[in-house]
Amino acid sequence: MALLRCIPQSSTYLPKIRGFRMHGTKAAASVVEEHISRAEREDEEYADVDWDNLGFSLVRTDYMFATKSSSDGNFDQGYLSRYGNIELNPAAGILNYGQGLIEGLKAYRGEDGRVLLFRPDLNAMRMKMGAERMCMHSPSVQHFIEGVKQTVLANRRWVPPPGKGSLYLRPLLFGSGASLGVAAAPEYTFLVFGSPVQNYFKEGTAALNLYVEEVVPRAYLGGTGGVKAISNYGPVLEAMRRAKSRGFSDVLYLDAETGKNIEEVSASNIFLVKGNTIVTPATNGTILGGITRKSVIEIALDLGYKVEERSVAVEELKDAREVFCTGTATGVASVGSITFQNTRTEYKVGDALVTQQLRSILVGIQTGSIQDTKDWVLEIA
Ligand SMILES: Cc1ncc(COP(=O)(O)O)c(C=O)c1O
Repeated sequence: MALLRCIPQSSTYLPKIRGFRMHGTKAAASVVEEHISRAEREDEEYADVDWDNLGFSLVRTDYMFATKSSSDGNFDQGYLSRYGNIELNPAAGILNYGQGLIEGLKAYRGEDGRVLLFRPDLNAMRMKMGAERMCMHSPSVQHFIEGVKQTVLANRRWVPPPGKGSLYLRPLLFGSGASLGVAAAPEYTFLVFGSPVQNYFKEGTAALNLYVEEVVPRAYLGGTGGVKAISNYGPVLEAMRRAKSRGFSDVLYLDAETGKNIEEVSASNIFLVKGNTIVTPATNGTILGGITRKSVIEIALDLGYKVEERSVAVEELKDAREVFCTGTATGVASVGSITFQNTRTEYKVGDALVTQQLRSILVGIQTGSIQDTKDWVLEIA
């Protein structure tokens, strides 16, 4: 497979692509024809997507980025290839011993046409932290950002029009080297792909109804709850399925040690609003330090709210006026109700509330309509 380091800008440019093989004249001609038509399509400003009906399911884009580590832990420069299946050794660390991390960030298209990434350095640092915890090699912060940037630029036509969503980027780091005995893999792959998305929940922008899970904890002290290990997600899928089958939007987990404190939702952090005070569970290793969480806390402090990061007893859910969840996929999502032990507590939702105020400032910064005075936004096109 050949390398592709730049994006086709015109239909006369035929990129060299990994996996592009010609067999005989006829086959070669049809491959070239298909290739020209692809290149023509890729000249279009937007991909052929129903932008008004995007949810959060995988849409196949054009390219993905990948780089592998060598035995000294350094990653090669990396390359773009056509989005598609990857090949793995059956003894790969990821398949046998779960050495895998995910990340999630978004590219937004502003009204002025600029394409922006939101705090990608924090995703890169979180992946590095996770890699240390999981005994894996990881790419540098710059290399991580470069891989994400290349992926966005190569898939630019998949970045939704302003106000119609974003291109969700999924960086993966996994043990691709083979090991039969329990051991860290000898080689790691860093891969980035993307998919245009809009609302994470089927509820759209309507308020969420959460269910407090009392049997299955998400994480435990000393475990991997504080990093984005892929192994954190499989064990809660059944609890999520159960809650969803009963009409709830998602699950709110309790701490494994006492079962008395709330922790977080399946892929988002949680906040309670009580008067001028905003309360959220502290990150002590069992909760993911969300980048949206961190950003919302900073915005709330700037606005003059008091923010408390501490243990939050499940009983406190009764005292909150508003509740909201934060996450890259979720955004800042209003929670309309939480059900705990068959008791449903309802919360205020709608405009002119703290949740809405925080959401509109965050979205404004992410999409470039509010000036970024904090150096959070990286303009890549
Ligand atoms: C378990 C969990 N908590 C919280 C979050 C929110 O984190 P972020 O705001 O960085 O997307 C995520 C999503 O990545 C998550 O998977």
